[in-house]
Amino acid sequence: MTGYLPHSDALKRLANKLPKTELHLHIEGSLEPELLFELAQRNNITLTYADVAEVRAAYQFSDLQSFLDIYYAGAAVLITEQDFFDLTRAYLERADADNVVHVEIFFDPQTHTERGVDIGVVIAGLRRGLLWGEATFGITNKLIMCFLRHLEEQDAFTVWEQALPYLQEIDGVGLDSGERGNPPEKFKNIYAAVREAGLPVVAHAGEEGPAEYVRSAVDVLKVSRIDHGVRCIEDPLLVAELAEARMPLTVCPLSNQKLQVYPDLADHTLKFLLDKGLCVMVNSDDPAYFGGYVNANFDACIEALPLTEMDIRQLAKNSFEASWLPESVKADYISQIETLQI
Ligand code: HPA
Ligand code: ZN
Repeated sequence: MTGYLPHSDALKRLANKLPKTELHLHIEGSLEPELLFELAQRNNITLTYADVAEVRAAYQFSDLQSFLDIYYAGAAVLITEQDFFDLTRAYLERADADNVVHVEIFFDPQTHTERGVDIGVVIAGLRRGLLWGEATFGITNKLIMCFLRHLEEQDAFTVWEQALPYLQEIDGVGLDSGERGNPPEKFKNIYAAVREAGLPVVAHAGEEGPAEYVRSAVDVLKVSRIDHGVRCIEDPLLVAELAEARMPLTVCPLSNQKLQVYPDLADHTLKFLLDKGLCVMVNSDDPAYFGGYVNANFDACIEALPLTEMDIRQLAKNSFEASWLPESVKADYISQIETLQI
């Protein structure tokens, strides 16, 4: 292990104990191999893997697409409302263990509707899971429906129409899947329709795609947050503008490492962006595939980067500032973060 000092133990304890939100989490990406097998058996689906060890061994990725191929294949075991409930419950148990007190989670309806699973079944299971998490742990939540950007804008309109009867269950809309060659502008019209309906919007940008995609997500799609956004550093003017606007970037360090955006976490720009005054925070993206939940991401960053105690508190504070919680609730958590001692 590199840079492992006694000092980093104290920072890890602090990071782990602080209240945090998670704002970049694909619920389908929290499907652990054990649950994958359980659901496959329940739904009479034959997996190509012999056992859990073989599944974990397959989780070696060369880029985003090599991950997405396995991720979409795994999601095929999710069929019934109970499956989506079980998935959400399992994630919230992990979130609670990490002192995550509020989550804003993504789901990909098109991954399910194209297999004949009704969007109403998906939303009902996720919502029941989120309600369970609130009743059991007090974890508050928002649900964000994502469009798949490798498909056409017309496909996004189709799933948007399917979602209309459930709009009171959906808190925002996002954009994910393969970024290269699929710029934010491709979804200009559907985003206008979503904003017209009064929903806040976010988008993945600047993960594998260039800094221009971050700029067009802000200017054309009018997002209130950028998911990933780390490649903004290729445009220093953009970095300054994002800092000035306090435009949040939902950074996912272990994801960036596993998908070879920063194969060595020591090269990750989290600390640089924090020092530039950007509203960055730490998220897990697809924790079942990338090696851990929020606290595991903090631990890995503390080992690889020269983060200070103030940085750790700032990352936790940013996670509340960037959330869609009421301002009074944010202020309460932020003052807890400023005063909590370990
Ligand atoms: N990037 C884009 N699409 C995704 C991701 C990601 O990291 N995870 C799940 N869908
Ligand atoms: Zn993501």
